[in-house]
Amino acid sequence: MKILFLDQSGKLGGAELSLGDLAKPYRNHCLVGLFADGTFRELLEHQQIPVQVLTTEAIRVKKDSGVLQSLGSMSSMLPLILKVSQIAHDYQLIYANTQKALVVGAFASLFSRRPLVYHLHDILSSDHFSLTNRRIAVTLANRFSSLVIANSQATKAAFIAAGGSPELTEVVYNGFEPNSYKTQANDSHKIRQQLGLDGKFIVGHFSRLSPWKGQHILLEALAQCPPEVSAILVGDALFGEQQYVQHLHQQVAELGLKERVQFLGFRSDIVPLMKACDLIAHTSTAPEPFGRVIVEAMLCERPIVAAAAGGVIELIEAEKTGWLFSPSDSQQLAQIITTCRNQPQQAAIMAQQAQSQASQRFNLNTVNQQIAQLLNRVIFTQSLN
Ligand code: UDP
Ligand code: GLC
Repeated sequence: MKILFLDQSGKLGGAELSLGDLAKPYRNHCLVGLFADGTFRELLEHQQIPVQVLTTEAIRVKKDSGVLQSLGSMSSMLPLILKVSQIAHDYQLIYANTQKALVVGAFASLFSRRPLVYHLHDILSSDHFSLTNRRIAVTLANRFSSLVIANSQATKAAFIAAGGSPELTEVVYNGFEPNSYKTQANDSHKIRQQLGLDGKFIVGHFSRLSPWKGQHILLEALAQCPPEVSAILVGDALFGEQQYVQHLHQQVAELGLKERVQFLGFRSDIVPLMKACDLIAHTSTAPEPFGRVIVEAMLCERPIVAAAAGGVIELIEAEKTGWLFSPSDSQQLAQIITTCRNQPQQAAIMAQQAQSQASQRFNLNTVNQQIAQLLNRVIFTQSLN
């Protein structure tokens, strides 16, 4: 099947990592069109997936834009829409992986008469998007797409609550290759030594630095934990959240945590780093649409504690495959960190159960088959019209 994938980002967020995995089976016949250059292009090239940066002009629409701003930025997308419409003639299907890709893909689908699939990685609620942006997304998705793939039931529910059509929507979780999460135990031992954290209890946080990802909640919790509990914050501010980064450093200083917290920036060696941790914490303060880091922690056989909202509660069976805490409740998080430290056997059993469950439930092969079936259905239905 010949697919034109579209993604607005040049950076490596979860939606982009997911697209990299989904596009792989189509690499002989697909193109990934990006609306910005960056490390995502490099990853796709490395995986031998055809990629083209379709524009380097910034599309200035923010998640909280109002009507006028949104209309203005939509008109500035016209050259890109025309370019994508042209390219789409060589493909059977347009696959939009982000919001701006939906806007461009919807019009390109109209002009090129190619069916549109929208992979929705976001929870379309007021926590994340302005009313205008929500309306634009559901209107375009309902009017132009043949299929909406939601990355969790929570994402699907929010789409429907925002006016999205239930009939169009299917839930497909992110898929992972379980073998990629196996590494040598001594790699992680080396990492603990390099970090100077041998003998400490390490809580790992793996996420871009952004207020709603809630790194500040982990710092608050850490201050309530015994002194041998340390934290590594893995991830960078991908979308200009420099003020939040400053705030985190200030918080570390104010809470007297300088010896216990390390900022490691964006890293590609997630697996050995996760394996070096005693516990992985997910602390989003707003509902997480899916939460790849949670499944990755499970596949690394590390205990996980996560904020109970959005897709997260579909990923974790409380007390069986991980711990859940109320979003933003740093006291409860601190208690769970302490429990995990005091009961390593219980934590290890949970991590084992999580690993074996996650290897089945989120298996990339199965997910890719599910997607292939859905896309075949779209192409077949289109051929009847
Ligand atoms: N990640 C990474 N390096 C980092 C921090 C994060 O490769 O330094 C990866 C992480 O392993 C996960 C993805 O980025 O696969 C983040 O996806 P998630 O769904 O957790 O959150 P998002 O940022 O997409 O909202
Ligand atoms: C988005 C969401 C994240 C999800 C990822 C992959 O980036 O914020 O929760 O895991 O997409 O679907």
